[in-house]
Amino acid sequence: MATSAGSSPVALVTGASSGIGLAAAQALLDRGFTVIGAARRQEPMAPLVSAGLRPLALDLTDPASIAAAVAWLGQEVPGGLAVLVNNAGYGAYGSVEETPLAEARRQFEVNLFGLADLTQRLLPAMRQRGSGRIINVSSMGGRIYAPLGAWYHASKHALEGWSDCLRLELADFGIRVVVVQPGIIRTGFADTMHEPLLQRSGSGPYAALTRGLLAGFADIYDARRGSPPELVGRTIAEAATSSRPRTRYVVGYLARPLLLVRNLLGDRVYDAVSLANFRRR
Ligand SMILES: NC(=O)c1ccc[n+]([C@@H]2O[C@H](COP(=O)([O-])OP(=O)(O)OC[C@H]3O[C@@H](n4cnc5c(N)ncnc54)[C@H](OP(=O)(O)O)[C@@H]3O)[C@@H](O)[C@H]2O)c1
Repeated sequence: MATSAGSSPVALVTGASSGIGLAAAQALLDRGFTVIGAARRQEPMAPLVSAGLRPLALDLTDPASIAAAVAWLGQEVPGGLAVLVNNAGYGAYGSVEETPLAEARRQFEVNLFGLADLTQRLLPAMRQRGSGRIINVSSMGGRIYAPLGAWYHASKHALEGWSDCLRLELADFGIRVVVVQPGIIRTGFADTMHEPLLQRSGSGPYAALTRGLLAGFADIYDARRGSPPELVGRTIAEAATSSRPRTRYVVGYLARPLLLVRNLLGDRVYDAVSLANFRRR
């Protein structure tokens, strides 16, 4: 394992300023990693800095920011990373008809291409060293789908296929690729998707579906049925440290049952379940 100054292994967690990334950073610190937390906002990471987290500015929509972050890592972590947790992401919701393609591209920039840029730049050192672990935080939404979530689901479905191909390409270089598929987790995710969805599709032909989706999301997030981010954080730490990590970790509220319905019963049944849930109001 790559170490920092010959001591603890080093993990980089993107999206460490909130939710799952913050929890993963904490869980990795608890397991003895030197953790570098990357995000646009630095302030929310301050509480973990006293526990040893090293904050790093990163905007995944900006190639210059990614290049600067990797240059900083090259200087500060000359031994290279043991673990890269590609967690940063968000959901761009709205009907396909009403979502500008610029927003769709931005969705892919954060959830796939920025992640890919960062990974590409960090891969040569891992490959030359012959070890490393790349943990991509996808979603149960990388296998299932919901109305008004086309671009989010497209980006996560793409990340799933991309990760599978990468796993095969790196198999001979000692680098493991793991996908984490969280279910409903209580983080900033629902807040980030709410306002843009309302603006795009809250009036007009998709208004009823938008109300249904927001009410459905309010049920599962606001009623606090969702799982705590710490659950996913611990799963990521498990994937980072297991001697034989799984290719996929399914974790959190609704993930297993929904993936089961989708996998066993097929599209028509899944469509009916999804629409019944979001059309009910
Ligand atoms: N919550 C759920 O129910 C759920 C379910 C399945 C999958 N997920 C996935 O889990 C991951 C983490 O989301 P979360 O639920 O923890 O949401 P969150 O609390 O909103 O956290 C999102 C993180 O992504 C970072 N981020 C967003 N845009 C970025 C950009 N352009 N450049 C760099 N960082 C950026 C944010 O940091 P800054 O804003 O400071 O940059 C923040 O730290 C995402 O990939 C999400 O798709 C979440």
